[in-house]
Amino acid sequence: MTCDQDSVVEVRAERASKPPALTIRAAAKINLHLGVGRVREDGFHPLDTVYQAIGLHDDLVIAPADTLSVTTIAADHVDAAGVPDGEDNIALRAARLLAAHTGHEPTGRLVVRKDIPVAGGMAGGSADAAAALMAFDRLWDTEIADDDLLRLAAELGSDVPFALIGGTARGRGRGEVVEPVDDAGVWWWVAVPTTEGLSTPAVYRHFDVLHPDAPLEPPNAEPVLAAVATGEPVRLARALHNDLQEPAIDLRPELGTLIERGEAEGALRGLVSGSGPTVVFLCDSREGAVATAAGLRGAGHDVALVAAGPVAGAHVVD
Ligand code: C5P
Repeated sequence: MTCDQDSVVEVRAERASKPPALTIRAAAKINLHLGVGRVREDGFHPLDTVYQAIGLHDDLVIAPADTLSVTTIAADHVDAAGVPDGEDNIALRAARLLAAHTGHEPTGRLVVRKDIPVAGGMAGGSADAAAALMAFDRLWDTEIADDDLLRLAAELGSDVPFALIGGTARGRGRGEVVEPVDDAGVWWWVAVPTTEGLSTPAVYRHFDVLHPDAPLEPPNAEPVLAAVATGEPVRLARALHNDLQEPAIDLRPELGTLIERGEAEGALRGLVSGSGPTVVFLCDSREGAVATAAGLRGAGHDVALVAAGPVAGAHVVD
């Protein structure tokens, strides 16, 4: 007994002397509607989009330290070489931006456990940026106002504000002006990443080549918003829309074949996710998604991930 009590005390003492670590979870996104208008003078495209956060995520662990560091640990299906190191790393940029804004010394040790494909069109980098903002905000106890945090998020990337709020939301402007929308469903998806990423600017540039006369106003998200509000997968499957799908498939024709294959395996509809090359399949149920994923694996697509949406934006998990 005495021995047990001593060891309990020892464990407690060890815990007390260790700096507290905090884990922030950040979800991948898909675009249920991605309406793209003619390129603006600042090089961005006007969007009307509907984002959904799905249950495929990165976890960021933050702990106090004397200096600032970011380390990435990638899952097998994630191309770790595609994650920029040094000052280009978006989590590091988030830390420095928050430090500059709040006047705090930029210190802390951040470990990013990546499950979201890199350069896959699922906003993995944006998810990490949002979670890093939240992680350093907690570590430094900055008490920054929500609006200011959203503004810093928009500086880091067009879909970083969405990664903070999560759920299902409409995005306008260049995607950074976000508002939550009614979502009556639990939607089951299969995501099939591709080992080699696709550059977002390259896909937008190819959209410009294919559509030099694109409308100034992007195609309206209303049909998808109406479908999402019903909670009916067949209705949403019909309404899904992505203006970047055509340029993405033109650059990577195998994505078109993959979409056909997943639909043959039972998915209601396949769609390029954002600027690709990840393809997502909407299924009628969890069972339908598991069966479609198994069929795709059988057809040689080793990584077919089942995920439900919507889920929360960046949040603390312990
Ligand atoms: O905002 P973010 O850094 O994610 O954008 C990456 C690139 O994607 C931009 O530099 C631009 O080439 C393209 N983009 C765009 N229109 C948008 C969003 C992104 O052309 N609305």
